[in-house]
Amino acid sequence: MLDIKNIRQDFPILNRQVNGKPLVYFDNAATSQTPQQVIDVIVDYYTNYNANIHRGVHSLSQEATDKYEQARNTIQNHFNAKHAYEIILTSGTTESINLIAHGFTSLLQKEDEIIVSALEHHSNIVPWQMLCEKTGAILKVIPMNLNGELEMDTYSALLSDKTKLVFVNHISNALGTINPIESIIKQAHQVGAAVLIDGAQACPHIKPDVQALDVDFYVASAHKICGPTGVGMLYGKEEWLEKLPPYQGGGEMIATVSFEKTTYAGLPHKFEAGTPNICGGIAFAAAIDYMNSIGFNAISSYENELLDYATEKLLDIEGLKIYGTSKNKTSVISFNIENIHPYDVGTLLDKMGIAVRTGHHCAQPIMDFFKIPGTIRASFAFYNTKEEIDTLVEAVKKAKMMLS
Ligand code: ALA
Repeated sequence: MLDIKNIRQDFPILNRQVNGKPLVYFDNAATSQTPQQVIDVIVDYYTNYNANIHRGVHSLSQEATDKYEQARNTIQNHFNAKHAYEIILTSGTTESINLIAHGFTSLLQKEDEIIVSALEHHSNIVPWQMLCEKTGAILKVIPMNLNGELEMDTYSALLSDKTKLVFVNHISNALGTINPIESIIKQAHQVGAAVLIDGAQACPHIKPDVQALDVDFYVASAHKICGPTGVGMLYGKEEWLEKLPPYQGGGEMIATVSFEKTTYAGLPHKFEAGTPNICGGIAFAAAIDYMNSIGFNAISSYENELLDYATEKLLDIEGLKIYGTSKNKTSVISFNIENIHPYDVGTLLDKMGIAVRTGHHCAQPIMDFFKIPGTIRASFAFYNTKEEIDTLVEAVKKAKMMLS
């Protein structure tokens, strides 16, 4: 059982007021809040050992380098990667995906096939469309049903020896569906395709084990799991990372440089050109430590409780429809109220101190599927409470009354 009252004290922002009302923060799928333990690590870095890494013989640089590489080890252990050098630190999930898409430009041929799912975020659609334009490869889409679940029979039928890559999110940001990635990975491997899983929405709720999944690439962002923005990770199996060319040229990613020829550094530095987000990487690891100190089993079971509670209460409101009713889903509720634009509801909720996201959630194909302009999305984290959900339900009723 989580001690929510105590946990909430770790998050200074939860004490503030918005528009004269206590903040109710239900936009966790967009970004999570930051505990004092992580804020302290950021302050400590800039107060005590801010220096560039892998470059200086001086003590500060060595201290920062040690902390940064320890952070990589923490991330390795968290995701159960076999080697620390299989963890590449990036600016976030989007950069991680683009790094892989760039790398595959030289590995794909005309008529090769790439499979994505109907549940993807734009960051997991657009890079592959760009890759197809460059290589002549063909993009295929796994459709979904009205519950927001992937149609796995169609997926099996789409796979062939032409399939080179499969890209699916672990959990949908717009609907909260938890995808059956174990089966997706297994089936893709049977035809020799590589699999990338976008774990941005899963990592706040689940502790993924990349070796048990046997996944080729797994990507995530720190800011969804109580860390800072501007930093994330890419796990890649060593054999794949060795095959991919560097993403960016610059300092730190080379072994030798002359005007005639440059040779590249080994993993992970081949993919880490320039000065990285040093403080961000160290704070990312602190966020992982923080989440593990609470425990992912306790986090996900409490969030499921919040999900069930909120689903039941919201469905009591006449004219309210929830999008994304998969049996296997996480604490994200996307909904609309009959004949009312989601943006109008979101604006009124903000006036009452409640932060939700409204719009297409960077997943326009999902909105097109349901023939709606967007939804109101409430996404819960382990520091939220049932009382806050009651506040949301009352506020939605009030907004409905004012806008009807
Ligand atoms: N992808 C993030 C979201 O779903 C920003 O809100």
